[in-house]
Amino acid sequence: MNILLLGSGGRENAIAKKISESAKCDRLFVAPGNCGIAKYAKNVDLGSDFSEIKNFVLKENIQMLVVGPEQPLVDGIANYFLEDKSLQNVILIAPSKEGAKLEGSKDFAKLFMQRHNIPTARYETFTKENFMQGVEFLKTLTPPYVLKADGLAAGKGVLILDDINEAISELKIMLFDAKFGDASAKVIIEEYLSGIECSVFVLTDGKNYKILPVAKDYKRIGEGDSGLNTGGMGSVSPVPFADKNFIDKVEYRIIKPTICGLRDDNISYCGFIFIGLMNVGGEPYVIEYNVRMGDPETESVFPRIKSDIVEAFIAVGEKRLDNYQLEISDNTAVCVMLVSKGYPEHYEKGKLIKGLNSVESFVFHSGTKFDANNNVISNGGRVVAITALGKDLQEALAKCYADVEKVYFDGAYYRKDIGKDLL
Ligand code: AMP
Ligand code: GLY
Repeated sequence: MNILLLGSGGRENAIAKKISESAKCDRLFVAPGNCGIAKYAKNVDLGSDFSEIKNFVLKENIQMLVVGPEQPLVDGIANYFLEDKSLQNVILIAPSKEGAKLEGSKDFAKLFMQRHNIPTARYETFTKENFMQGVEFLKTLTPPYVLKADGLAAGKGVLILDDINEAISELKIMLFDAKFGDASAKVIIEEYLSGIECSVFVLTDGKNYKILPVAKDYKRIGEGDSGLNTGGMGSVSPVPFADKNFIDKVEYRIIKPTICGLRDDNISYCGFIFIGLMNVGGEPYVIEYNVRMGDPETESVFPRIKSDIVEAFIAVGEKRLDNYQLEISDNTAVCVMLVSKGYPEHYEKGKLIKGLNSVESFVFHSGTKFDANNNVISNGGRVVAITALGKDLQEALAKCYADVEKVYFDGAYYRKDIGKDLL
């Protein structure tokens, strides 16, 4: 079958590679794609207008649409396809607009968890109208204080503050000065959860589900988890503390009630659920839902999937995921992200990237493009992810860092401590 994947990051590079390996895949297109993806698929520029995507799907006889990032999901691409007769036979790996609210509105996600008894931090939601109650609620909590913009804020909408006066002042700026635009017209204030985070991924057809490998993401720019938050500096899969006992708790307390909750609430959902979890003394709590795979988690999760992913996607489309066998490799995957100097603040693009051909492990491009001479140059903050598989974490780390050292561009930076906390 012909498949269209939307997105342009390392996540889509890892998904595109996996799709291209399927015997079921004839032609794979990625919109807009990147240089790394060009090795596995044809990059096409379709813009974000759904009608352009529709025209392309009809012209190229696309039979499956896989959506990488959240924005088209929150904008309702699945509903657009489901409501158009000419697109009704396209298999969608894309939850509905209502389902995408699990990521698009933190208030919606919190109400969903409350309604379905899913463990999460205690919280309340505030607007301009009840700002003073927000201040009172903050005073009932102990520091640090967690403030979250309700809507999508490019991963920047969460503030964690130690000082009550600062928390009150930020709440005011979020609500009255639109610190995160419309996204902070509502603000969630929640209890701080102390523990270690991990990311659990589920593929669901809305009724049945498969749990994908668990990963840990390294979000801060600096070693020892210091400095500014980024889109992710590396990832590891599996995560030693997420053992069978922990994942059983996640499955029974979180995954099952989530899938049942979607069904009970009549929310159509075919695609990935990314559950950001805090392990608080061995007990899992949901920090957030995302309605897509994580980046850079996908770069360590997908290389561990042994089964044919297109067959899994077809099973989702046919709502028979219960009959699909998902095979996972026992290997450990380590992914290290090379980023531009200055990232996540101001950085320069257009740097020539050398050494990619000597890498023995996987190279997943995040922000790259071809220059006029067909050289690969940097085109983003996160530039390339290197993923290695090993029989254990130690071996995967050694292989990954040996490869990372072969890649060079002016100002390249990477964290040298990915996965070391798990040894
Ligand atoms: P989010 O955008 O919801 O993923 O939040 C960003 C980050 O803030 C998370 O990855 C956590 O590290 C942190 N965070 C969010 N909520 C809480 C909480 N209730 N307690 C502790 N840390 C949190
Ligand atoms: N790695 C976190 C995310 O994709 O949102």
